[in-house]
Amino acid sequence: MAEAGIRDILVANQIVTPGKLDRAARLQTISETKFAIDSLVGLARAEAAAQRNSCQFEVLIEVDIGLGRCGVQTPEDAADLTRRILESPNLRFGGVQAYHGGTNYILDLVERERRVAHSDQVLAQMLAAVRAVCDVPRVSGAGTGNARHHLQDGLLTEIQAGSYVYSDTTYRQFEPDYRPALFVLATVLSRPVEGRLVLDAGRKSIGTEFGNPELADYPQFSEHRFSEEHLQFQVDGTFPLQVGDKVKVIPSHCCTTSNLHRRCYAIQDERVVEEWVIDAF
Ligand SMILES: Cc1ncc(COP(=O)(O)O)c(C=O)c1O
Repeated sequence: MAEAGIRDILVANQIVTPGKLDRAARLQTISETKFAIDSLVGLARAEAAAQRNSCQFEVLIEVDIGLGRCGVQTPEDAADLTRRILESPNLRFGGVQAYHGGTNYILDLVERERRVAHSDQVLAQMLAAVRAVCDVPRVSGAGTGNARHHLQDGLLTEIQAGSYVYSDTTYRQFEPDYRPALFVLATVLSRPVEGRLVLDAGRKSIGTEFGNPELADYPQFSEHRFSEEHLQFQVDGTFPLQVGDKVKVIPSHCCTTSNLHRRCYAIQDERVVEEWVIDAF
C-alpha cells in the first residue's frame, strides 16, 4: 500500500516483533504508518525499534470495548499508556483504537444498536480518561456491520470497515445493501453421477470458517461437501454446466478468501477491466 502511494496507513493491530517493527520503521520514509499498542512492553519494543532506526512512530492506544481481544482493560491503564507515549521522544500519540468485531454480526438491528451503544459507553469512559491527559486526534474503529451504529453515537472519528467492499454470504444477511462482489471462478471438474457437481475450489481456495459458499448463479443448489481441493454440490437436471465449464462461487468470508489468491480480476459489465495483484497474503 505504501509503495502504491498511500501516505496514511493504520495497521489496525499490534506490531511487537523487532523484524516487523524495523519494517514499519523503513516504511516511515514513504508513508506515515501507524499501529496500535496496548501494553508497556509493546510500548518499550516500539520505542527501541524507533531508536534503532532513528525514527518516530505514531501509535494509537488500543482499548478493549467488549470484544475481549487486544486492548487495555481500564480507563486508568489507557491514561497511563497515553502519558508514557507523551513522555517518549520516539513516539507520537495518534489517538485511540476501539474495535468490537462481535457486534457486526447481530441480526436483530435493535439488539445490534443496543450492544454497540453499550460498547460505546465503555469507549466514552476510556476517552474521558485519555482526554484528561491530552487531546485525542483520532478515534478509530468499527466494521461493516456496526459502523452505522457507532456513527450514530458519534465517538469515532474514523471507520475501519473493510468487508463492505466485497461482502460475502455471511455479511449479506446482516448488511444486505452491500451485495457480494467477490467470486471465486471455479471449474467443473466432474459430474460423475447424476446430481453430483464437483468443482475445483476447495478449502485451499475459499475461506470457510464462516460457513458454506454458494453458487452465484444457482443459489438453489446448496447441499454440498467440501474438501481440500474440491467443492461438491447436489444439483438436479436443470443445472446446465458441464465438465470444463466455469462457475462463480460466493465465499462465506471475503477476508479469508482474498488472501488465498495472488490476483483479482475487476469485472464490469461482464468484461475484465483491471487486474489487481494481491500482495497481502
Ligand atoms: C481491528 C479491525 N478493524 C476493522 C476490521 C474490518 O471489519 P469488517 O471486515 O467487518 O469491515 C477488522 C476485521 O477483522 C478488524 O479486526
